[in-house]
Amino acid sequence: MTDQAEKLRNLVQSMKNKTKGKNKDELTENDVITKENSAYVYTITSGKGGVGKSNFTANLALGLRQEGKEVMVIDADLGMANLDVILGVSPTYNLSHVIRGEKRLEEIIVDGPKGLALVPGGSGLEELANLSSYQINNLISCWNKIDQEFDIILIDTGAGLTNNVTKFVLAADEVIIISTPEPTSITDAYGVIKVIAKRDQEATIKLVVNQAENSNEGNKVADRLVKTARDFLQLEIGLLGILPTDKAVTKSVRKRRPFFLEFPKSQVVKSINQIVAKLLDKEVKEKESGGIKGFFNKLLNF
Ligand SMILES: Nc1ncnc2c1ncn2[C@@H]1O[C@H](COP(=O)(O)OP(=O)(O)O)[C@@H](O)[C@H]1O
Ligand SMILES: [Mg+2]
Repeated sequence: MTDQAEKLRNLVQSMKNKTKGKNKDELTENDVITKENSAYVYTITSGKGGVGKSNFTANLALGLRQEGKEVMVIDADLGMANLDVILGVSPTYNLSHVIRGEKRLEEIIVDGPKGLALVPGGSGLEELANLSSYQINNLISCWNKIDQEFDIILIDTGAGLTNNVTKFVLAADEVIIISTPEPTSITDAYGVIKVIAKRDQEATIKLVVNQAENSNEGNKVADRLVKTARDFLQLEIGLLGILPTDKAVTKSVRKRRPFFLEFPKSQVVKSINQIVAKLLDKEVKEKESGGIKGFFNKLLNF
């Protein structure tokens, strides 16, 4: 299994060696290692908290990894960064150290299971807007390398309509909204969709219904949200998938091991794999991606 974080560190090092002694203006195209496409960035969010975003993100990442994709997950939940716990890793540093200028991004990336790369979360993302252009350039050069190395980036956010979450949502190539069948969760999901639609009528929003008792219930929830968005916001939302309520999730959370690895034969893993297949569909693959660099540029321009 490839050690993603290690590969990235090496890549960064080789970039540094290559460009050593040159000013930024002197860099030629040969100094930049280019992959054909930028990474495709998905932001995962919800209206209500505790609907399963982080578990979905971690296990979807493993599903994509199983299909040979180079995947990075970024924990952008400021209030409760816990992707590390779900993935069973114990990072020493996190995004807050990068933002405070104490660590470089490539120094905080840790290896998750199966060669997954994790950018651990921490507080301080709200300070992004106050960074100097020097600091911003430093960050962006890192993101550049990430675009070259990874196929897919999943950004896990907190719930609700905080300013930060909204920015992360609007900057992504695609947004995945998670709702459970609970009426409060559906109402809050619709609230998020409404805010996105107001800010960006072109946004691509996909829906995941989590903790459904059965596919019938899941489909009903999805139909309701899709229809309401169509009728009141003139926005087409695609249903990405339905995940059942499954003890495999709660058990694996307690074990600090993702259910994708702990219970590979469970129903919930079957559903994750169906979503993986949908995301890797040809039609999706051919879509243009702004990459993490595009994401970051958009984020800074808000
Ligand atoms: N499909 C599911 N089946 C059973 N329990 C689930 C499922 N999804 C989430 N949960 C429960 O919900 C809790 C919160 O999930 P989490 O991914 O941390 O949500 P969020 O990131 O949205 O706050 C989990 O610890 C688990 O107990
Ligand atoms: Mg979470």
